[in-house]
Amino acid sequence: MNQKNSRRQFVKKTGATVLGSTLGFNILTANGYKHKINSDTIKVGLIGCGGRGTGAALQATLADPNVVLTAMGDAFQDRLDKSYDNLLIENADKILVDGEHKFVGFDAYKKVLETDVDLVILTTPPCFRPAHIEAAIAAGKHIFAEKPMAVDAPGIRRVIASAKLAKEKGLALMSGFCWRHDTPKVDSYKRILDGAIGDVHTVYNTYNTGALWSHDRKADWSDMEYQLRNWLYYTWMSGDHIIEQAIHSIDLMRWGFGDELPISAVGTGGRQARTEAKYGNIYDHFATVFEYADGRKGFHISRQQKDCSRAYHVEMLGSGGRSYLDVFRKHEIMPTGKSSWLWEGENTNMYQNEHNTLFAGIRKGEYFNDGVRAAESTMMGILSRMVAYTGQTITYEDALNSQEVLGPNIDDYNMDKSWPMKDVAMPGITKFV
Ligand SMILES: NC(=O)c1ccc[n+]([C@@H]2O[C@H](COP(=O)([O-])OP(=O)(O)OC[C@H]3O[C@@H](n4cnc5c(N)ncnc54)[C@H](O)[C@@H]3O)[C@@H](O)[C@H]2O)c1
Repeated sequence: MNQKNSRRQFVKKTGATVLGSTLGFNILTANGYKHKINSDTIKVGLIGCGGRGTGAALQATLADPNVVLTAMGDAFQDRLDKSYDNLLIENADKILVDGEHKFVGFDAYKKVLETDVDLVILTTPPCFRPAHIEAAIAAGKHIFAEKPMAVDAPGIRRVIASAKLAKEKGLALMSGFCWRHDTPKVDSYKRILDGAIGDVHTVYNTYNTGALWSHDRKADWSDMEYQLRNWLYYTWMSGDHIIEQAIHSIDLMRWGFGDELPISAVGTGGRQARTEAKYGNIYDHFATVFEYADGRKGFHISRQQKDCSRAYHVEMLGSGGRSYLDVFRKHEIMPTGKSSWLWEGENTNMYQNEHNTLFAGIRKGEYFNDGVRAAESTMMGILSRMVAYTGQTITYEDALNSQEVLGPNIDDYNMDKSWPMKDVAMPGITKFV
């Protein structure tokens, strides 16, 4: 869409009057709000304009009176257009993206980074995350990057290095491990880590959910386009569902252990209910036991199978009691011999909390950076996948040093060049690399 059309659409959709500013960013909207870019404005670029990216862009613009979205990039025009339209409906005053700042294609990220944005939101499928984070830091941009941080161990090592570099350069790098910003969890974990149930020795956690969306193939889609539009189902793009989705529960488990890392894991998994070709090569269930150096244990179960019982929770057993946190509902702490504590405060939107914290920090010159922790939690998911796929017991250290790279280099992506899908992993046959 060219700039003229984009403005016409903007005016049509919002009743906005576009003033003839030389910057093209001086917009008077129907409700009379006039947002002028000034030296205090924080300009945001969105890379990956899907469901989460659109939400995150909105939350960024709501986090601070002087944050605006000025650039967008996506692999596909239709995804970018839909996101832009939805953002205009939600917060038109702050969506100042003209046609020259909308970029489509695999190199869209570079073009967004070449604009004068101060911060980028990285919400593409996970396979692009390490390269996008590196490029953003090289360009001197603050980052909000959705979880997971990578799909393989070399990617994790790159993100860990990037997070350290971001610190040195005074750049924020916030991950999308959103439960860390959820008020009931923040309050509950504080009590637990302060000893409400003694020393936590066992954590059991779940992410048992139903089937997810998929898109039927269109005649003009290349293999790459088909896979990219259905990225969840390809290990090389999503990491598998234990990394793309259940990683939240694994991170909640790790939080209960004071963020310590396990020494090894053993596990299982498979592809039982979701076996059609359209579901690519990922598994539909996993079970992992994480071993800690002092004998503590973490148990994780996740599945994406329809019409089965659901659970999304973390249960901790300690030397002085136990706790049961249903991720969306009840948060209960039960110390032995004492009455239970139930979380009863007023909840807030954790996604908004993330952005409020991120932008308040930038304003103060205190740059939020949880990049290393986020990469390590993602690595625990990758370790789970490795032990399930291979059937072997693997140490965290060996897993982190794995040389297995799942996908192409960032500059080798091409809509007309497919990437070979590996066979579904078979324990005992699939090798740890
Ligand atoms: N924290 C949470 O609760 C949460 C919730 C949902 C999704 N997520 C994460 O957010 C990320 C995105 O998920 P989603 O649900 O928005 O997926 P989505 O498919 O809706 O969005 C991904 C977008 O990225 C675009 N894209 C693909 N490759 C690209 C590239 N190379 N460059 C630019 N754009 C590209 C796609 O076209 C699409 O518009 C994933 O990592 C996912 O795990 C996190």
